[in-house]
Amino acid sequence: MQKIAIPDLQPNMVVARNIYSTEGVLLLSADTVLNAMQIDRLQQFGLPSIYIKNPFTDTITYGDLIDTIPEVVREETRVQAVQLVNTAFKNLTVTQNLDTQQFKAISNFLLDDVIKNRGAMIHLTDIRARDGYTFGHSVNVCVLATLTGVQLGYDMINLKELALGALLHDAGKMLIPQEIIIKPAPLTTTERKLMEQHSDLGFDILRKHSDIPLVSAHIAFQHHEKFDGTGYTRGLVGTDIHEYARIVAIADVYDALTSDRPYKEGILPHEAYEIMMSLANTHFDPIILQTFLNYIALYPLGSIVQLNTGDIAVVTRVIPGLQTRPTLKFLLDASGRRLKNGPEIDLTKHLTIFITKVFTLTEVLQLGTNSPQQTNLHQPFEPSC
Ligand SMILES: [Fe+2]
Repeated sequence: MQKIAIPDLQPNMVVARNIYSTEGVLLLSADTVLNAMQIDRLQQFGLPSIYIKNPFTDTITYGDLIDTIPEVVREETRVQAVQLVNTAFKNLTVTQNLDTQQFKAISNFLLDDVIKNRGAMIHLTDIRARDGYTFGHSVNVCVLATLTGVQLGYDMINLKELALGALLHDAGKMLIPQEIIIKPAPLTTTERKLMEQHSDLGFDILRKHSDIPLVSAHIAFQHHEKFDGTGYTRGLVGTDIHEYARIVAIADVYDALTSDRPYKEGILPHEAYEIMMSLANTHFDPIILQTFLNYIALYPLGSIVQLNTGDIAVVTRVIPGLQTRPTLKFLLDASGRRLKNGPEIDLTKHLTIFITKVFTLTEVLQLGTNSPQQTNLHQPFEPSC
């Protein structure tokens, strides 16, 4: 499956994953063959992109494998969490009252899923409607942070503290004017200063609740601190920043980079990986960053990539810690000929071969039309020999 921006959708494309509203209502189910009316409706819901089945890989026999990607958190868990966070955060805005029991319950069931699926990697970017960005982001940061905590060997007490603080890290945003939160353009200096107050505001809300551990409240307070001391609100340096906040800072930026925002499309995981690595030691704790990145699939299952040999292949297997060297199945040879049953290659065993490009779905669809020997992607090339 591949993520595609809504304006690039065309009738007859097939939906790969169920699509929900922020309230948890199913808008379209997987396997729906899209028509023009449904595409219009998706636009009205403010969804920036969706996952669709990739016609380029549908004809190969392991197509089922790459459409059932193992996930760290089950779809129903994520949908329920976003829905509950949506209600609880909106309630906080209206009543100034934080339903701590609700947030504890949500963070605990997200944690349960992460522990059960601890061997899985992050393959997919969550899709969110524009009005639901903060809610989906809170859930994602909770998942990414607790997955990192599990890999760091945290016990259940640590994990619960981390999960709750991560879920509530942006609670202060509920007290920032909504027009700034959802502004479809970069913020002015004044707006940014106001936005930066959300760390303080969040800490103030959380520390008043005796059933929220103070270390969890400190995640809200410190999640915009940077390892070199250039962050806010206090300019803390290195290990003076609580370890939980150092984890959440990484999860927060990774999710913000890879997901669609009101004013920009998210970038691909391997591009986010490069940016995150360039910020080790300055923004992020380098050791925690490495642990975090070990469980992010740089080339998610089903990605179509080009190799330095000129061949084009699909990613079929990724191993934690070895994500730069996935297993691939060849689709097109270097001269653009479609391979009916191309060979599979494990890049950990072929060190002179490396990935040079990741194709977007739009590019994948054009591959067939651009290549003179490849006129129809649905009719596999038959080798002449
Ligand atoms: Fe924040």
